[in-house]
Amino acid sequence: MKQKNEQIHTTKLLTYLLIGLIGVLGLLCLYYGSSFAPGSRRSDNTGSRLDGSDPVFGGFSRNRDLDDLLDEQGHYPEVPKSIPICDIKYSELIPCLDRNLIYQLKLKPNLTVMEHYERHCPPPERRYNCLIPPPRGYKIPIRWPASRDEVWKANIPHTHLAEEKSDQHWMVVDGEKIKFPGGGTHFHDGADKYITGLAQMLKFPGDKLHNGGSIRNVLDVGCGVASFGAYLLPLDIIAMSLAPNDVHENQIQFALERGIPSTLGVLGTKRLPYPSRSFELAHCSRCRIDWLQRDGILLLELDRLLRPGGYFAYSSPEAYEQDPENRKIWNAMYNLLKRMCWKVAVKRGQTVIWAKPLSNSCYLKRDPGTRPPLCSSGDDPDASWNVSMKACITPYSAKMHKERWSGLLPWPQRLTTAPPRLEEIGVSPEEFHEDTVSF
Ligand SMILES: *[C@@H]1O[C@H](CO)[C@@H](O)[C@H](O)[C@H]1NC(C)=O
Ligand SMILES: *[C@@H]1O[C@H](CO)[C@@H](O)[C@H](O)[C@H]1NC(C)=O
Repeated sequence: MKQKNEQIHTTKLLTYLLIGLIGVLGLLCLYYGSSFAPGSRRSDNTGSRLDGSDPVFGGFSRNRDLDDLLDEQGHYPEVPKSIPICDIKYSELIPCLDRNLIYQLKLKPNLTVMEHYERHCPPPERRYNCLIPPPRGYKIPIRWPASRDEVWKANIPHTHLAEEKSDQHWMVVDGEKIKFPGGGTHFHDGADKYITGLAQMLKFPGDKLHNGGSIRNVLDVGCGVASFGAYLLPLDIIAMSLAPNDVHENQIQFALERGIPSTLGVLGTKRLPYPSRSFELAHCSRCRIDWLQRDGILLLELDRLLRPGGYFAYSSPEAYEQDPENRKIWNAMYNLLKRMCWKVAVKRGQTVIWAKPLSNSCYLKRDPGTRPPLCSSGDDPDASWNVSMKACITPYSAKMHKERWSGLLPWPQRLTTAPPRLEEIGVSPEEFHEDTVSF
């Protein structure tokens, strides 16, 4: 009986959620519809909300019954009459990253190259056409910026990671909440101090890592619960934090619940889904990646993603421990990166920061046959969806080589100035500005 009540309760809750969603879509249509309509004024439709009702859940949407709504659509037979709710055991299902699917389909991903953490999407007959229910006791998430430091435990009912990383201050369970003190394997004293330390190492003015807006896009690989990215946000730097859904519980779930941009992903066999030269800084703090494997293919993927002069900040025992094993790895990495024309910008404490070259000059000076080779001119470095990584160096275009720079202005001017790479694909600055005015 109790369970039945609970079920009815969940169903009711979901119905409200669905109606709410339809309401939001309706409001969006109304908003955009009217703000683009000739002669209309935006203030017209905000006026109705001045009664203080919640713009999403207040007002008309709650009075509407889902059945009415679906009846109205009765003459569209392809619209389902109702959408079933998935079993609660699927409340954390991620369709293309579902380990059970790999097992059931008898796929044989190559574990040594992390293929099992890459996307494997279900064929149509194995897709679940149902609504994912929230976990029991789900609460409206805590709002940013408070969410940086705490989330509801009920929303992510996993506390294993807190126990495992208790010595590193990643996260602690505190009653109904999970709290994030901002620590990490390499930043016991907090990510903010660590970030200031990186800026000091690079001698950036005022110890500000954004360096006057020249560092804006950061890629954090093996990001844990993404505290590094969280503490970059107030510095006007946006980090894409990346981690696989691995032996730990899903760290990205915590990062997203906290409100930090992040995604499930892995440096495995496929290119990351970003065009070449997208980031000014890549970061790995004890990310447990074997960078030397397969002729350095993973470092070459970072190389593809970094802009001219881009940095790679690496905090890992190989960079500072003196035992023979770590020395060996360090020497091999140093050697590989030298052949890739990267330079050590600075090395201090537990961290080394490399810089990628600004032009093709160093590539052109390498001895013939030096590995890794330059990519063939047929390779499109911006093709990234379902494209295998390649163990080659992406050289710069003639223009970029000559200018020794991506030509991007610092943030935020960059936001409204045509990026030079647009011209390389045939979009003029004038077209860019016309679009900027419209959108
Ligand atoms: C997995 O990948 C590694 C590295 O490319 C390769 O040496 C190995 O043969 C592969 N294993 C299988 C089973 O394909
Ligand atoms: C990705 O590419 C492989 C071949 O390279 C192909 O077999 C596969 O279907 C592609 N997957 C998707 C999702 O497009």
